[in-house]
Amino acid sequence: MEKIAVVDFGGQYTHLIARRIRQLGVYSEVVPADAAAGDLAGYKGIILSGGPSSVYAPDAPDCDDGIFSLGLPILGLCYGHQLMSHKLGGEVKRGLVHEFGPADLKPATGTGKASPLFKNVSASSTVWMSHGDEVSRLPAGFETIGSTADCLQAAVGDAARKFYGLQFHPEVTHSAEGAQMLKNFLEVCGCALDWSMKDYVATLEDKIRAQCEGRKVFLLVSGGVDSTVAFELLNRALGADRVLGLHIDNGLMRKDESADVLNFMRAQGFDNLKIKDGTATFLSNLKGVTEPEAKRKIIGETFLHVKDAALAELNLNPREWMLAQGTIYPDTIESGGTKHAAVIKTHHNRVQGILDLMAEGLVVEPLAELYKDEVREVGLMLGIPANLIDRHPFPGPGLGVRLLCAAGNTEPVDAAAIARAEEVLETKGLGGEVLPVKSVGVQGDARTYAHPCLIRGTRDWRAADAAATDLLNRVRAVNRVVLEVAAEAGPYQPVAQECTRERLDFLREADALCTAALKNNDLYAAVWQMPVVLLPLSKGGRPVLVLRPVSSSEAMTARFAELPFAVLDALWKELAALGAGSLLYDVTHKPPGTIEWE
Ligand code: XMP
Repeated sequence: MEKIAVVDFGGQYTHLIARRIRQLGVYSEVVPADAAAGDLAGYKGIILSGGPSSVYAPDAPDCDDGIFSLGLPILGLCYGHQLMSHKLGGEVKRGLVHEFGPADLKPATGTGKASPLFKNVSASSTVWMSHGDEVSRLPAGFETIGSTADCLQAAVGDAARKFYGLQFHPEVTHSAEGAQMLKNFLEVCGCALDWSMKDYVATLEDKIRAQCEGRKVFLLVSGGVDSTVAFELLNRALGADRVLGLHIDNGLMRKDESADVLNFMRAQGFDNLKIKDGTATFLSNLKGVTEPEAKRKIIGETFLHVKDAALAELNLNPREWMLAQGTIYPDTIESGGTKHAAVIKTHHNRVQGILDLMAEGLVVEPLAELYKDEVREVGLMLGIPANLIDRHPFPGPGLGVRLLCAAGNTEPVDAAAIARAEEVLETKGLGGEVLPVKSVGVQGDARTYAHPCLIRGTRDWRAADAAATDLLNRVRAVNRVVLEVAAEAGPYQPVAQECTRERLDFLREADALCTAALKNNDLYAAVWQMPVVLLPLSKGGRPVLVLRPVSSSEAMTARFAELPFAVLDALWKELAALGAGSLLYDVTHKPPGTIEWE
């Protein structure tokens, strides 16, 4: 099978590049920066990704020099473009102008000048830039094949060796003709552009068979899209007698979820699925734990203990059974699972116990290269019903993360943050307050843990968005903004809160009401996901809930979604009847907020 390697230098868009190439009809996979040239010899071409470093930084990621002697076409993007010029004898310098966002690329024209990389590309094409450094002198054999007003060497090429470098990002959709440029590169590589997701299913099955040779496989089935698709694939690749699914009820699931999972799997004809109720173990392990990463790690490790107990009960030898997981690409990147990425949060499928099993080669993750929407595509192809495939994503640690814990008044807001927020709110003519809780966010590719700022006094999403942007840019102590939809009288006060059965049951009921409101109003398909969050706060002595509806396409970035206020008002009545004291609505994009609160 023809395939393209994308060498990872820690860029935001590395996997997006691989994905775009697949969308264009050629299989593509990401390889680490330190991959040996010999390992890349079987590819049709190599793309060097972007990355946050400068080539002159002491710890700048490098690649094997040998890849330039493989005789393969190479495309360097942003950092990859600079690194290639630097390594082949050119020069990179600090750009006079730092360019971020759109720029106008003019491909070189004239006899012998027009590059195959810009076939069918306009004379003036919008491209997306994000860089400080730039190439200032070209290596021997290269010429300029395109420039922008602020970047002379925006596109360079050595047609004889088929080496090309682009300072901009053709992989992002904001680069209007970026897909055409990537397609042109694939043509330079001599690729047939005939690969499709259908072939991928066959590839995945082959990979599973090779990896699991001589072993049986035990899959933790949460009932979400990813694990369901992984289960179906494993069954196809290995046969049902070598696969056992285990659904562990961790007590952190949504209402009726475990029963639904079992019913669905039976309807699909699977009888190799067991259910184990681990609620008591999970809740006892979480007792007294409030810090979000600690909770995640406990939940992840408890999955493994409960799994081992289940294996023992079934008299199965753990050494004969590999562990399979429905891990997808964003799980790995957020857990700091690639060499140059920061830990935003530890996903349940990336805790130490799992990493140890991985080091022994005992974990199989057939979907680990894919984004959610690709998994959905594979699932539909495998004949999994659309109503299951279209379910909103739900994280493995479930309500365990969405129920924010605190030991009491442990996150008071400092006076400077209050004053700063009040200043901003005043300019917007809005009321509000910084809340004495903290949650995880992601800013500049790194984790933050900071306060939400509540705003009140508008029902206009644009005004809320503008106020949120100002607050987030100007108040360092704030990483999210929430709009107060409705609330009982009285002050917001911190309360102690843990993952107890009673608090989880309250959140479960609230979550069920919120999901029903989406479904009953035909809004379920319009949002990507809508976490419902219970804060360690009270209002008028009653619990405080946050709704976090978002639109997204792969969960790496997201916009807050705008639901009709009529729906929210009706929902508030139901939540108030359930006992809620306040309904807040998250108006933060990702970044700086993550999709989940924790
Ligand atoms: P964040 O909150 O990081 O979430 O913006 C991005 C997507 O990942 C999901 N998520 C998880 N999924 N295990 C999972 O299977 C996890 O530990 C986990 N944490 C977050 C989240 O629901 C969203 O779709």
